[in-house]
Amino acid sequence: MSTSTSSHAPALTVYFDGACPVCSREMALYRRQPGAEACVWVDASACAEPELGPGLTREAALARFHVRRADGELVAGTRGFAALWRALPRTAWLGRVAAFGPMPMLLDFGYRVFLALRPLWRPLPPAAAAALPWPAVTVGDLRSDHAGEAGAVQIYRGVLAVTRDAALRQFAEHHLATEQAHLELVLAHLPAPHRSRLLPAWRVAGWLTGALPALAGPGAVYATVAAVETFVDRHYAEQIARLDAMPADDRRAALRADLERCRLDELQHRDEALAAGPAPGAWVRAWAALVGRGSAAAVALARRF
Ligand SMILES: [Fe+2]
Ligand SMILES: [Fe+2]
Repeated sequence: MSTSTSSHAPALTVYFDGACPVCSREMALYRRQPGAEACVWVDASACAEPELGPGLTREAALARFHVRRADGELVAGTRGFAALWRALPRTAWLGRVAAFGPMPMLLDFGYRVFLALRPLWRPLPPAAAAALPWPAVTVGDLRSDHAGEAGAVQIYRGVLAVTRDAALRQFAEHHLATEQAHLELVLAHLPAPHRSRLLPAWRVAGWLTGALPALAGPGAVYATVAAVETFVDRHYAEQIARLDAMPADDRRAALRADLERCRLDELQHRDEALAAGPAPGAWVRAWAALVGRGSAAAVALARRF
């Protein structure tokens, strides 16, 4: 998977992640530049591992951009990019700018942000996908359930921190116990390394989703719970449909049964909230719509992180 049009020793060997659409497009741009023929271009996602040369594993090459200079030294991250820019006449000025004053620090920060966001669009490397406890889609589903149930627990903690309404407190205490049981069920199916890494964010968002409407009164809380649970019912139903489309085995059947148990509880929560609350006014309806949208956005993010 390495390519060079030069028969001389390469000025630079460039190791890029060909499975990342953004990285591939960027490399294609450099490879059309004059001077690119003096470099060797190695797609670290598809080459044979020995092609990576001494001191570089596939895992490291896929985790960060690397180049190998003509003297054999490996340079990673933004220093690697600067070396590549300097090797191509049209971008040599960029290589000089990259070394100027605080630029290395700023570029490094930008690159770290890029790497943190990259799982949003980059498919998992085959070795990582093979090591997953479930198919990748199910891991994403369960990670979003982890985020959702952890947030749900906090919704009721937020309500209980604010409200003095006896009926609402009873409602929140009962639901809090159920959401805690859901959280434990989900965690039992999802090993720790695959759980959501944004837990503090989901907890704060959940707490505010309970506490803010509680400030406005019980009616706003019931409308919020109805909106959240309407969304969660759909979310669990979609996951169950995906499991049903996969080959059946005992482990999958146990997961399906637990997800269905959660879904039925959420439906009951929704119905209790609808029965307890008055017909919501315009402001509460707008808030409930926002909560529904927010839940969908949080699920999209939690599937990855
Ligand atoms: Fe739940
Ligand atoms: Fe619930």
